[in-house]
Amino acid sequence: MAFNLEDVNGIGKITANRLRSAGIKTVEMLANISLEKISSIKGFNESKARLLVKNAIKLIKRTNRKLNSSQLEALNENSSIPNGKYFNLTQENPRFMPKLIKEDDLYGKQGYILNLLRPNVYQFESKGAGCSVYLVVGENLNVLIDTGLITKFNSFNYLLNTEVGLSIEDIHLVVNTHEHFDHISSNSYFYCPTAAHRWAAAKIQQSDELITKGKKWGMDLTDLKVNIWLEDRNMIDLGNVILKVIETPGHTSGCICLYEPMKHYMFTGDTLFKGATSNIYESGSISEYIQSLKILNTLKISCFYPSHGSCVMGEENVKNEIESSIVNAEMELKAFVNRIKSKPIEEARAPPSLYDREEESL
Ligand SMILES: [Fe+2]
Repeated sequence: MAFNLEDVNGIGKITANRLRSAGIKTVEMLANISLEKISSIKGFNESKARLLVKNAIKLIKRTNRKLNSSQLEALNENSSIPNGKYFNLTQENPRFMPKLIKEDDLYGKQGYILNLLRPNVYQFESKGAGCSVYLVVGENLNVLIDTGLITKFNSFNYLLNTEVGLSIEDIHLVVNTHEHFDHISSNSYFYCPTAAHRWAAAKIQQSDELITKGKKWGMDLTDLKVNIWLEDRNMIDLGNVILKVIETPGHTSGCICLYEPMKHYMFTGDTLFKGATSNIYESGSISEYIQSLKILNTLKISCFYPSHGSCVMGEENVKNEIESSIVNAEMELKAFVNRIKSKPIEEARAPPSLYDREEESL
């Protein structure tokens, strides 16, 4: 069996060690053991036993269906890496094949494709418009990073139910990486609390159309609530995963990246992409963007998962992406400043969004 007991939802180190001492050493053994036997172990009761067996069965079903033997082998080989097991995304991603494709395209062209990036990290990769959505299945909490376009919610829900084996009720926290419509428009489908950086939260709660741009894309973003207002260095503890908030203003003022400081991977939102430099929108600032990238450049990042485009694996590749975005942004800033300085003072005015919102096209 490729997975350890710790890979089962709800099992941490202590629980795994207790199971092992009782002779239950693999996920398969756990899935086939009687509830009475588990319930008799110290620290267990019947409901906990039932849940863990259910989660073990789910994990086996998921992996048997989705991974071919060479992917399982690769997973086994990587299991000795202290930072955890992972799939090498430079090779073929493990793709989840749907059992049925509905007419409204729940999977594929207009919806999402589901990728398993690590045993506990799923990517709902957006096809066409919209951002990719990430699900981190933790020991204590399941966290969804962004909720994506509302037009793709059915696709998300379908894959969550049929492929991941979870439901909307199993999502315990939504974190928005920033305030743009394509990241927040499905927020209202979730029952759990929503978290965002405080500058993003202010704009989401005020339905600030100039910044969120919902109406421009035909989406109603009124009455969205943010329950937890985040700041730099806040930590979200999922049990087996830590998500550390890194403030990265620039693309907008409320941008954050979420960093796993022990395993060194990062969800970069719209701050860092593969082969492209982020755009600067209303409320954002190119100089803050440069500064944010410089902060990212001080961190050890072994791979990053962006909201648009491909993931980047390998420390060197990540560094190259950060540094080329810094160079591009610095060039853009310099060109802009030179343009402004070369004009007479009466023409060198700030963009209209800063002063006169009526002139802005929504
Ligand atoms: Fe954005």
